[in-house]
Formats: sequence, C-alpha cells, structure tokens
Amino acid sequence: MTATEIEVSKSDAPNPSGYHEFSLGEFTFRRDEYFVYISWPTGNHMMSIDAFLRALQRDVAWDFFYGTVNFDSVFGTVNHYGTVDIFAGRFNDSYRKAELDYSENHATPEIRETFKSILSDWTNSTFDPFASPHETGAAWGIKNGDNDAAVTRRRVAARRMVTVPGDEEIRTDASGFPVNRHFLDVDQTEPVVEVEPGFEDDVAAFNLFAYLSRSDVTWNPSVVSQCKDSLFCPTTEEYILPIIHGNDRVEWFVQLTDQISWDVEDRDTGAIRSRVVMKAGDVCAMPADIRHQGYSPKRSMLLVWENNSADIPDLIASGKAPTYPVEF
Ligand SMILES: [Fe+2]
Repeated sequence: MTATEIEVSKSDAPNPSGYHEFSLGEFTFRRDEYFVYISWPTGNHMMSIDAFLRALQRDVAWDFFYGTVNFDSVFGTVNHYGTVDIFAGRFNDSYRKAELDYSENHATPEIRETFKSILSDWTNSTFDPFASPHETGAAWGIKNGDNDAAVTRRRVAARRMVTVPGDEEIRTDASGFPVNRHFLDVDQTEPVVEVEPGFEDDVAAFNLFAYLSRSDVTWNPSVVSQCKDSLFCPTTEEYILPIIHGNDRVEWFVQLTDQISWDVEDRDTGAIRSRVVMKAGDVCAMPADIRHQGYSPKRSMLLVWENNSADIPDLIASGKAPTYPVEF
C-alpha cells in the first residue's frame, strides 16, 4: 500500500472548535480547545492536547520506533515492523485486571497516514510539537492555521555516516541551523582530515558536539552513523520525553552533556523499578523489559545506541537472549 491508496477516516465537517474528527478501526479521536478525547469499545480517555500532539509527533517521526510508544499510562502503540498495535489500557495493571484493555492491529501505512492527518489537522500555526516548550507557542484554542512545515520535518537518517560523501551534510548557519541558546559554549571547530588519494569516499570526520548543538528539535534521535545493525542515534533533549518508551531490546545511553533523570518502570504493569540520574559522561543500558521517561532540566546531548537487528525482539521474548546486555 502506498500513502496515496490509504483512505483516512475523517469527519466531513470540522467540529465547533474547528477540528476534524478521525477514526481508525473502533478507535475515535476528537479534539477541542484543551483536550483530545479517545474512545474505543470498552472505554474512553482524555489527554491534554499539547502532550498528545508531542507524543503523536514522535510516534509519526520515528515510524512507531522500537517496541512500545506509550502516550501516557493508558494509550499508545506497539511496533511489529510491518503492522502496528494501537491500544488502550494494555500496559496498565488496573485496566487489565478490570478487563477494560483493548487493542487493534493495523497495517503500518494505515495508522501512519491516520496519525499524520490528525497531526496536520490539529496542530495550530502557533505550536511546534517537536520544539521545547520554551521555544514554541501554545497548542490551545480554536483552529488557527497549521504548522505543516514543522510537523513534516524529516528525521535525519544517515546510511553510512554524516559527512561521508553522498550522505547527510553537517548543520551550519547557512543551512538554517543556528547554535541553540543552551549550547553557545560548544566549540564549532571541525576536524581537519587529510585523506590518502583513493579513499576520499571512505574517510571522513565531523564534530558531533557542534552538529548536535545545532539540532532544532528535542527528543528526536537522528541516525548519524550506521555499521551493519549498529546505529548511533544522538539527540538533544529538553523538558520531558513526550512518550514513555517501552523497550523491546536493550538500549544503551551515553550522556554526552548536562543531566537527565529517568523514571524506569516495568514495561507491562507500569510498576516503578528505579530512578536513574545520568550526568555528563555516564553510560547505562536500559533493559529490554522496562519502559522509561526522561526529564532534562536544560538542553542536553544524549547518545542512544541501538542494535537494529530484526531478530532481537523474538530472541528476547522467547528467552533465548537475556533482557540485559552484560553479565558482571
Ligand atoms: Fe527506550
């Protein structure tokens, strides 16, 4: 299925607040000036619209990411890499015990196009869901234009490494990426590389800190290098990770600057497992059976290291691979 063949289920006319209403399977989505209202056959749910749009933006931009994207403790998606589950209450102990949890599986293009349509229709011209709250206006109010330029920003995904010929360019003032206000002290000097003739396509280097200091989005890992299944996905973070990420594989974090506090919970029940405070230079591995949400008081740089192998979720789910990376 291509995007143009997908029919998004959308109301003919906007509601009194000026927004269209959407449905996907038995789920329906409605927004007004402050909230989104989600309903499904066994229940319904409200979220603040700014939090919902920030989460929706990541789910769309990451193409449903690895494992589970919890918008909050009730609603979210699980990626099966080709299809996606959309759920309510599935990873919430109380909903499960009351048998109010509900889940549907959809082809990825179907949910992707529906979510993109909601994001476009419900984002006002004043609001950029990718930006930190300090760097954007409000999401509230009756329908007021759109911000499609912001919500359709492309996630950087290098196939080899940023700056290798044919791959992504570094960010500069001229390309519209000024240094962020919190990173004005970051050295912008690029390394000098003298390449032996014949190796110009293969040898390159760049200043990762300078590159990240010019990131215009928060909580959106870009892929700066790829070696087989090893992906380096650094990102800049500020305020709160807009989703609670449920891992389906081990995920390594290297805190490059500043500080992030993580709430770590059991992936399936939401029971608290630990609180992790990561300071510059700290390294940790988030296990494959947890979910986590980060708090970054000031814009910080985080290197997320992922193993992209399609075999890992099954190996872990079947017990053939452990949920943690190292035996000490
Ligand atoms: Fe994660």
